[in-house]
Amino acid sequence: MSDAERRDREPIGVIGTGYVGLVTAAGFAELGSEVWCVDIDAEKVRRLRAGETPIYESGLQELLARNRERMHFDTDLGPALANARLLFVAVGTPPTYSGDADLSAVHAVVDAIPAAEDRALVMKSTVPAGTGASLRRAFAEQGKQVLSYVSCPEFLKEGSAVGDFMHPDRVVIGDEGGWAGDAVAELYAPLQAPVVRTDVASAEMVKLASNAFLATKISFINEIANVCEETGADVVEVARGMGLDERIGAKFLQAGIGFGGSCFPKDVDALKQLAGNSGYHFQLLTSVIEVNELQKRRVIGKLQRHLGPLAGRRVALLGLAFKPDTDDMREASSLVLTARLLADGASVSAYDPVAEDQARELMSGITYAASPLEALQGADAAVLVTEWRELVELDWAQVAGAMAGNLVIDGRNALDPGQVRAAGLEYEGVGRR
Ligand SMILES: NC(=O)c1ccc[n+]([C@@H]2O[C@H](COP(=O)([O-])OP(=O)(O)OC[C@H]3O[C@@H](n4cnc5c(N)ncnc54)[C@H](O)[C@@H]3O)[C@@H](O)[C@H]2O)c1
Repeated sequence: MSDAERRDREPIGVIGTGYVGLVTAAGFAELGSEVWCVDIDAEKVRRLRAGETPIYESGLQELLARNRERMHFDTDLGPALANARLLFVAVGTPPTYSGDADLSAVHAVVDAIPAAEDRALVMKSTVPAGTGASLRRAFAEQGKQVLSYVSCPEFLKEGSAVGDFMHPDRVVIGDEGGWAGDAVAELYAPLQAPVVRTDVASAEMVKLASNAFLATKISFINEIANVCEETGADVVEVARGMGLDERIGAKFLQAGIGFGGSCFPKDVDALKQLAGNSGYHFQLLTSVIEVNELQKRRVIGKLQRHLGPLAGRRVALLGLAFKPDTDDMREASSLVLTARLLADGASVSAYDPVAEDQARELMSGITYAASPLEALQGADAAVLVTEWRELVELDWAQVAGAMAGNLVIDGRNALDPGQVRAAGLEYEGVGRR
């Protein structure tokens, strides 16, 4: 893209500078837009203004540094309203106790945005299908019907979010005709991704259905892994054979100790609740969620089978984040595992290369180690919870030297069983021979 083309790019506002908002903001700044970011978290805004990156995401720090001049941060909506007609909304939509999505942050934004004919809300937050329609009704009640609304769900993955923004599999834009949908499509045009132009409700459903399908694929292969454990088959071999069928595909066929994160659990739940609220019982998703919960707990059964009662035993958790390359602890399998271990009277030592600070806010009563070997010192068993590269590449002879026992449970099927066994350790994966 030439400098002149960059200069012609439309300025935008981004409301909510979390994983999605900040990556979206930095990505569009990289493409040449002036970006006006807003967040209610004053400390986050202060850090961003100071040039700090408040979340761990590969490549984000460099992207922010490179585009600093084009990025503005404020706790006030004023500058964004004054400078941009497209306001991307990327605030959190966490689950409520009922499993529905909590839209209070979205509503706070909607209430705060004044009407203007040349102003549009572009929804990046994941919201239930039908939210666009109900927000349009809210606009009308507030006398703000001139505002435009576009659904533009986000598909980036934490850990590879910057690359995912720059090279999306697809961009989905749901609107009702009019200028705003075209303006959003124009913003994404330099990425040359397939664009799905559709209505608002369908765009909203693409997001929920995609996450529910991916979660289903994970729970499916986890159940196959559990059957493999009973029948002597090896799920890694089974997945390899299945994945070569192009109707199935190899991705999301890695068996393990369950999915976590801020999206899959809550989006699957939200779709199930949405269906239920509309009078349809989404039976399949009920099972997907249940299989996932049981999968996290199966590790405890494996530990008990090898060690007997866990009271007084020491278990080292290798990795805490819900997946590698992120510091995000939301719905991480380590949370359930730790709670179960502590409840059974085991002591837990844990190591994660970046998520320790986040973990400390959610888990107490365990020892946080500064290195994997420190966590493993004197442990009766080790569980690989997050397949960080440095954990997958551990020197297993050193591990064996540090541990009191010899059991290694590979919760992500990421280790080479031969290497682990060669060090005199006992290896157990998920569904592996
Ligand atoms: N994290 C992901 O991988 C991912 C991927 C795709 C979609 N999503 C969806 O995107 C949305 C955002 O997710 P996230 O992970 O970036 O959340 P996050 O919690 O990391 O960030 C949300 C940000 O919004 C801010 N905020 C809350 N209320 C606000 C308000 N009224 N005005 C301004 N700022 C406000 C918060 O302070 C926070 O910084 C969610 O709906 C999520 O489901 C997330």
